[in-house]
Amino acid sequence: MCGIVGVLGNHEAAPILVEALKRLEYRGYDSAGIATVNAGKLARRRAVGKLVNLGDLLVHEPLAGKSGIGHTRWATHGEPNATNAHPHRSGPVAVVHNGIIENFRELRAELAQHGLTPQTDTDTETVAMLAQHFMDGGMSATDAAIATLGKLHGAFALAFLFDGEEDLMIAARKGSPLAIGYGDGEMFVGSDAIALSPMTDRISYLEEGDYAILTRAGASVFTADGKAVDREIRKIEVGATRIDKAGHKHFMAKEIAEQPTVIAETLANYISKSGEIRLPDPQIDFSKVDRITMVACGTASLACLTAKYWFEQIARLPVEVDVASEFRYREPPIPARSVSLFVSQSGETADTLAALRYCAGKADNIVSVVNVPESSIARESDLALPIYAGVEVGVASTKAFTCQLTVLFVLALKAASQRGELTDAQLQDHIAQLRRLPALMAEALDQNAKVKETARKLSSARDVLFLGRGPLYPLAHEGALKLKEISYIHAEAYASGELKHGPIALIDENMPVVVMAPRDRLFDKTVSNMQEVMARKGKVILVSDREGLSEASIGVWDTIEMPDVSDAVAPILYAIPAQLLAYHTAVAKGTDVDQPRNLAKSVTVE
Ligand code: F6R
Repeated sequence: MCGIVGVLGNHEAAPILVEALKRLEYRGYDSAGIATVNAGKLARRRAVGKLVNLGDLLVHEPLAGKSGIGHTRWATHGEPNATNAHPHRSGPVAVVHNGIIENFRELRAELAQHGLTPQTDTDTETVAMLAQHFMDGGMSATDAAIATLGKLHGAFALAFLFDGEEDLMIAARKGSPLAIGYGDGEMFVGSDAIALSPMTDRISYLEEGDYAILTRAGASVFTADGKAVDREIRKIEVGATRIDKAGHKHFMAKEIAEQPTVIAETLANYISKSGEIRLPDPQIDFSKVDRITMVACGTASLACLTAKYWFEQIARLPVEVDVASEFRYREPPIPARSVSLFVSQSGETADTLAALRYCAGKADNIVSVVNVPESSIARESDLALPIYAGVEVGVASTKAFTCQLTVLFVLALKAASQRGELTDAQLQDHIAQLRRLPALMAEALDQNAKVKETARKLSSARDVLFLGRGPLYPLAHEGALKLKEISYIHAEAYASGELKHGPIALIDENMPVVVMAPRDRLFDKTVSNMQEVMARKGKVILVSDREGLSEASIGVWDTIEMPDVSDAVAPILYAIPAQLLAYHTAVAKGTDVDQPRNLAKSVTVE
C-alpha cells in the first residue's frame, strides 16, 4: 500500500506530483505529501486525510521547484497524522516509501548512538536518517542512498531527493513495485504506470533488488550487488489508463455498470467466434494435472472458491483453495503434476506474491489470473491470464471479480475438455450460456432501482446474514464482504445448510438474511433453510429468478428478481445484486463508497 511518485522535470513539479498521486490514491488515503528542491533547497508540504487536503494546503502554501517526490499513505507504523505523513526528512535527505522496514528499531538504536533521534513514529524516517548519517560521514548523496539500501530489511519502493541536488533522484525496489518513466529530458518514478500515464507512456520496471540513479538525462539501473543492468523500456497502452467516473456518482457504480461490456471483452479474448477456447502460451495439458492449488486474498480468494466448484464438478479435478496469508507460512507440500494458480486484480498483493514465490520451482505450472498485465504476479508466472476488466479504481472490487470468475470458468471448461470430461456438445452448451452473460448482466442491472429500495431498508440493520449453497455459497461470502467493507454493517455468510449448526441462534426479528437462490437443483434445500429462518422471524431478502420467486416468496421480507441463467454461470450473474445491495446501502448510510475507511486497494504489505 502507499503510492509513491517522483519527477525530475522541466515544469513546476507540485501539480504534476498531485496529478500522479490522484491516480495512486487507491493505494491509501490516510495522508499525502510532496517535497521539492527549489534553488537548491528541500521543502515539503504534508496534510492528513485525502489528497484534496494537500491540494488545499498547496493553494495557501505553494511549493516551487521542478524536482520533487510525493506520497499517498496507508498507515502501517504510526497513526495517520501530519507528523507521520511522508515525505520524511532528515537533514539533507527526503524520502517517500511504500512497504515496511522491518529492522527499523535496530537501525534507530544504532543511529541514536550517533546522536540522531527520530521525530516521527514511522519506520520510513529511519531511511532518511540513515542516509543523512552516511552523508554526515562524507559520502555523496548517491553513495549514501546506496549504503542505506544495503542496511534495510523488509519491503520497499523508495525515492530519495537531496538538498542541493536538483538533477538527482535515487529510486529502489525490493518487494514493492516501482516503474520508471522516460520523458523528453524529464524522468519520472511511480508505484505504477497509471500514475505516470499523463506524463509518459515509456515505462520500465525495476526488478527485485534493483536501484536506479536518475537524472533528467536518463536512468542508470543496478542490481542489488551493484551490477549495471538494462531494464527493457516498453510503451504502455495509454488507452487502458483513462480513469473517470463517466457520469456516475462513484467509481464503484461505474465499475458495476461496466460489467456487461467488460465481460463481453473478456469472452472475446478467450473464445473464438467458432467457439474454440484460446489461451495464451505456454499451453497447459490438464490431462497431465492431478491437482490445482488456488491462492489469493479477499474477493479474489472468493473467485477461487467459486472456481473450485467448477473445476471439481465439470473437470473432475481436485482443487485446494487457501488465502495467501495462511498458505505462505503453512509450508504446504506441493505435489507433482500440479498447477499453482494465483488470482489478483492488482497483481501486487504482497501475500499472494509471496505464496507464488513459495510455489515457484515446486509446482509444474505457475499460473496467474490478473488484471494488471505488467504486475509482479503476472511477470513471475509461467502463464499469466489477463482478465481484461480495465482499470478498477473503487476500492471494493466488482468488475474484476466477475472477470476473474469468467476467466476461471473458461479455464475449467478447457481443463474439462482436455480431460475428456465434456463432450463437444456439452462444451458448446456451456459456451453458449457464457455468451448470454453480458445481456443477462444488463438485465440484472435493470433491477438497480428495486435494489436501491431494498438497500434503504437494509441500511438500518446492525448485522446481516448472507446464505447460499453450492457455487452460490462463495458468492454469499462476497455479498457479506462487500457490505462490510463499504457500509460498515457487520455481515456474515454461511452455507445455507450450515446455519442450523450454530448461527441460527442469531436469528430474530432484527436480522435481515439475504438468500442467494437461483432455481437450481439445490433450490428446494435452500428454501427449507430459508423457512427455518422465517420461522424464527428472520427478515429474508430472496434473490432468485422468476420461477424461484413464484414458488418461494410467500412470507419473505423482500425479493430481487434475476433473469434465468444456467446453474454453472449463476454465481457470475448473482454478483450483480450482491454488489448493488452493498453499494446502495453504503450510499444510504453516507459512507465513503470508493475509499472506505482503513482500506487500500493494493495491499503491498503483509
Ligand atoms: C474487496 C477487495 C479485496 C481484494 C484483495 C486482493 O472488495 O477488493 O478483498 O480482493 O485485497 O486484492 P488483489 O486482487 O489485488 O490481489
